Amino acid sequence: MNIRKVVIPVAGWGTRSLPATKNVPKELLPIYKKPVVQYVVEEAINTGLTEVVFINNQTKTIIEDHFDHNWVLEELLERKGKTELLEEIRAVAEMASIISVRQKKQLGLGHAVLCAQGVINDDPFAVMVGDDLMFGMEPGIKQLVDVAKAEGLSVVGVVEVPLNKVDRYGIIQGEEYAPGIFRVRQMVEKPAVADAPSRMAVVGRYVLMPEVFDHLRGLKPGVGGEIQLTDALEIMAKEGRLLAVRMRGRRFDAGDWAEYLTANIYFALQDEELRDDLVRNLQELLSCK
Ligand code: G1P
Repeated sequence: MNIRKVVIPVAGWGTRSLPATKNVPKELLPIYKKPVVQYVVEEAINTGLTEVVFINNQTKTIIEDHFDHNWVLEELLERKGKTELLEEIRAVAEMASIISVRQKKQLGLGHAVLCAQGVINDDPFAVMVGDDLMFGMEPGIKQLVDVAKAEGLSVVGVVEVPLNKVDRYGIIQGEEYAPGIFRVRQMVEKPAVADAPSRMAVVGRYVLMPEVFDHLRGLKPGVGGEIQLTDALEIMAKEGRLLAVRMRGRRFDAGDWAEYLTANIYFALQDEELRDDLVRNLQELLSCK
């Protein structure tokens, strides 16, 4: 099984990150030196996914521009002899082939994925939410791709969350039939704390078989009045055709301010040149009453 395409829905409004995201897409907010979405695309590239399909709206096309050449800037850097920066900027433009699909109405994550059908055709594909970050020894989405290839089934990535946060996510229930791999029996979008079948929450990582489009097409709006990807996956779960992988690594939800800021510090601490100053400043801040 060959999986080359990754669908990255980016048409959402980012209301959780306002006012920063009034005119700047939430996917382009920086985490240390790179925009959030670049980490997501790099995770895909490091997994061998080479074709990126952005599901976008008319106000956020600057996201695609980030993965294209900026000739004026490149020429300037070349003239000034800033070779290292030039290489870095060029590498971003060349890391993936980009396809952009318009989601003309923002009707939900399921609707966004359905918009990709024309460019996906009959191949299995990955979906990565544009502001959900996974870091660790191996790329997050690779953990799903490996299982999808071995089992020939759709796979969602899950992590355990505290009980009081289950109503923010898709929640699964299933049997763990191999270490960290579950056959999903039930999947419910943003359940009330009292109704949650478990604390295993779906992170924004999926590998899907094209059968998902048949289920998405027939869906009525679900939670929040949106066409929910979770509702299509619940149909596959009932047929025994959905797996979940407990993800190894650290996840950051860039739409949550505490996590967004923590991610910035996490990356900045890895920069030798910055580390000492940053630690000193943080200690100073923490000792302030
Ligand atoms: C979406 C999915 C949800 C999943 C979440 C992960 O929700 O609908 O099942 O748990 O992404 O980030 P959203 O954050 O778009 O409301």
